[in-house]
Amino acid sequence: APFLRILGIETSCDETAAAVVERAVDGRPTVRSDVVLSQLEEHSAYGGVVPEIAARAHVEALDTLIDEALKRANVSLSDIDAIAATSGPGLIGGLLVGLMTGKAIAKASGKPLYAVNHLEGHALTARLTDGLAFPYLMLLVSGGHTQLILVRGVGQYERWGTTIDDALGEAFDKTAKLLSLPYPGGPAVERAAKSGNPDRFNFPRPLVGEAKLNFSFSGLKTAVRQAATEIAPLTEQDVADICASFQKAISRTLKDRIGRGLERFKSESLHVDGRPALVVAGGVAANLEVRSTLQSLCGKHGFRFVAPPLRLCTDNAVMIAWAGLERMATGVAPDDLDVQPRSRW
Ligand code: KG4
Ligand code: ZN
Repeated sequence: APFLRILGIETSCDETAAAVVERAVDGRPTVRSDVVLSQLEEHSAYGGVVPEIAARAHVEALDTLIDEALKRANVSLSDIDAIAATSGPGLIGGLLVGLMTGKAIAKASGKPLYAVNHLEGHALTARLTDGLAFPYLMLLVSGGHTQLILVRGVGQYERWGTTIDDALGEAFDKTAKLLSLPYPGGPAVERAAKSGNPDRFNFPRPLVGEAKLNFSFSGLKTAVRQAATEIAPLTEQDVADICASFQKAISRTLKDRIGRGLERFKSESLHVDGRPALVVAGGVAANLEVRSTLQSLCGKHGFRFVAPPLRLCTDNAVMIAWAGLERMATGVAPDDLDVQPRSRW
């Protein structure tokens, strides 16, 4: 065949998603459909994702969503070469729903199944959107993950840094909660910060100066709580100032941590030809201050800054389908149908 066509399924957190993606022999991708159902409304009253609610919502939505993805792609199951489903890391209930559905379709249709690591999906997206060549650095900043990963090739990943406590998105969400801002916290904090004074509070920048490339954000959250308690009751201006100062601390931290990562990439002469690149993924990549910090950092270190469109930066099934296609194209064998979900993969 001139191309491979795959059905992707994503259910690891609070998005139910299905997509049909093709990969031509020359590596060119075509997204035939991309369906995402967010459970935001189901969880917002609780100020965070409730695993039981998430799992049930996946069960209720997934079959219809897969039908919709096939319909929008104008194909039927018999036109699909393989199925790719997220099998970890994530909430076990959701993973079970997606992986079992993928297995059932694979079994019934006789097509191969790829059990995809969610992080691999994020890591390979820039090859779909920007045709990026290996190797490159990837910063994943979402509600569940904060990781700096060296992407050497399909299936070849080196974790250079991770958070030792909260994920960056989690820090935004918890800070928002402390300030009685709505969930999800990231967009609310960013909005409030616009009219705030970033120099009013001198919040800590954890691990700045450390040689190891890890992150830590729980101390920052504690400092926000202290500041908020000291000056309570908070005016709208206080909240804005705290948010602006919080974002400034994050920006400084990223500058230090990621700056070291870029230096390490260069000193290990990892790029073969062309300019080295940093890719950003995850919901926090929507934050304009985070973006401009990374952008100017890349400029300073001679890196290309790649930020895929937000729809593909946040959780979706296109990236899972694409990771499956990359593995197929590299000659990786499909998974056995007894493959198990791995919550902490
Ligand atoms: O990748 P994502 O959509 O989902 C998972 O974590 O799986 O990321 C969601 C996270 C949340 O913590 C949310 O608060 C954060 O991304 N986020 C933001 C912004 N938009 C979303 N954080 C900072 N600024 C934003 N504009
Ligand atoms: Zn994700």
